[in-house]
Amino acid sequence: MIRELFHPSGGLGYHFRALLRSKRYWKPFRDEIDRFFAPPDFQGKHLVVFGSSGGYLFPKILFSRFKTIDCVDFDPISFSIFRFRHPEWRGRAVRVNFLDEWKHSLGDPLVFLDRLGAPADTAVLFLNVLGQLTNREQLSFFPGMAKLLEGRAWASVHDRLVFDQPVEWREKPAPESISDTLLANALQDSRGQPLAECESSGVGNRFRGERHEYFIWSLRDRQVQVCEAVLSPHS
Ligand SMILES: C[S@@+](CC[C@H](N)C(=O)[O-])C[C@H]1O[C@@H](n2cnc3c(N)ncnc32)[C@H](O)[C@@H]1O
Repeated sequence: MIRELFHPSGGLGYHFRALLRSKRYWKPFRDEIDRFFAPPDFQGKHLVVFGSSGGYLFPKILFSRFKTIDCVDFDPISFSIFRFRHPEWRGRAVRVNFLDEWKHSLGDPLVFLDRLGAPADTAVLFLNVLGQLTNREQLSFFPGMAKLLEGRAWASVHDRLVFDQPVEWREKPAPESISDTLLANALQDSRGQPLAECESSGVGNRFRGERHEYFIWSLRDRQVQVCEAVLSPHS
């Protein structure tokens, strides 16, 4: 429990950063996520959100699209913050390490969803969590992903590239699946110069969706993520 509270991708540090920076730095990114989910093409009866945290980025419109929403996170204090920010939330707080659950299900995503008690037609949303997984965690998680997503409504928002300097679009990419290299080529530094260095989150162009969009999220002045939002073809 202590480990999860101090985990680099969430926990107390993330809540503290959200408190300090949510209005000044995070709002433009949150607005873009809201716009991405505004069309009614992601809906259903039941939704499972992986990496729900305090719901700082959760698009409120989804409360009217799903009857119940289960939040999955291993951060024990995240659910109270989620409920405080979103009093309209109806669903379960599932405190599990979903990588462990995945392993206990022998990598079978359908067993995995069943263990979470989710109905077969459950939609899934990965909300800014997949790019946060270490390379090792990604290795254990991504195999089997196609089986998890097949035939259901799904969406993911994840970081693709990470920079320690401000970046801007040279040319905003078309709304389609592109490689990290093409994504990096679409960016420049704040003086309009090509970018020498960037770090990939390891997610790459793994997802083939109906809609793709790319956003720049300045977590603070010199901590920038270039994120992809992608929505299933089955929504
Ligand atoms: C960057 S935060 C997600 C942001 C969040 N969706 C929001 O709206 O602000 C990543 C979250 O994933 C959770 N997380 C990371 N790895 C996890 C795992 N293996 N199992 C469960 N939760 C995990 C962290 O606790 C953290 O809350």
